[in-house]
Amino acid sequence: MHGEGTGKVILYGEHFVVQGVPAIAVGISNKCVVDIEPSEKMESVTDLMIVPETSRKATMAVFRAMGEKGNFRVYIKGDLPTFGGLGSSAAYSVALVKAIAKMQGKNLAPEQINKYAYEGEKVFHGDPSGIDNTMATYGGAILFRRGDSDFERLKIGKPLHLVVGITGVPSPTAKMVSNVAKFKEFNPNEFSLLSEKMENIIGRGKSALEKGEMDLLGNLMNENQKLLEKIGVSTELNREINETALKEGALGAKLTGGGGGGCCISLAENKSHSEKISSAVKKEGFDSFSTVVLP
Ligand code: MEV
Repeated sequence: MHGEGTGKVILYGEHFVVQGVPAIAVGISNKCVVDIEPSEKMESVTDLMIVPETSRKATMAVFRAMGEKGNFRVYIKGDLPTFGGLGSSAAYSVALVKAIAKMQGKNLAPEQINKYAYEGEKVFHGDPSGIDNTMATYGGAILFRRGDSDFERLKIGKPLHLVVGITGVPSPTAKMVSNVAKFKEFNPNEFSLLSEKMENIIGRGKSALEKGEMDLLGNLMNENQKLLEKIGVSTELNREINETALKEGALGAKLTGGGGGGCCISLAENKSHSEKISSAVKKEGFDSFSTVVLP
């Protein structure tokens, strides 16, 4: 049985979202594809980079949450890079939930898909805000606040031509999330000040996204990157990719997702500009691809 889940990029607010500040994310078309069949033991078959033990535990958590007690072989494929902060673990969990539901002959509502996928996310990320599984379930553009019963769907005023730059260093999201929790514990006043700045970026970012104000969207990405540097989740490689994109005229650049490596995103003016930025990032020795998020 077959299931699919899509990836996302966080435009603004990763990490702060775990601590209760809202974040804005948009879906991308890259996806994780899962096929399952009964087997003698629980096993995953994939060419993608995964941590087998964590993946097995997350897979079991989803199967058990959905009332499946047997063992299964899980084939994992797709064009969504893993460990990039692009929501691959959530996309996997959603794809798995959909495949299991199909096997059970159930037509699950999106809220149920999201709820079961969160069980997988908890194993992958320890203390996830829930933004990644929500994006992998619903796609589109959303403003998400942890703990709210619902999220806000956002309009996109103009196409977003984004360039994804891949550091090649796996993003240790769970570790980064726990580092940020420590940063907050030891620097409560500073963190609260940074959170206020983040919340302000979210307010302005939402309006800029809806009105298609591209220069402002880019500036806000740069401002967000500075906050991410302050809480210690940006690395030298993240900085190199951002600088390369900005040198090519990107309107803004930041890391996206868990950081500590993983991926960066930059905003281009149009398709040919995004290809130019992507080539420059590749010339620096990083993998990169362009993607467009349509209104
Ligand atoms: C990971 O894509 C985003 C983080 O904010 C973690 C989370 O929200 O669960 C780093």
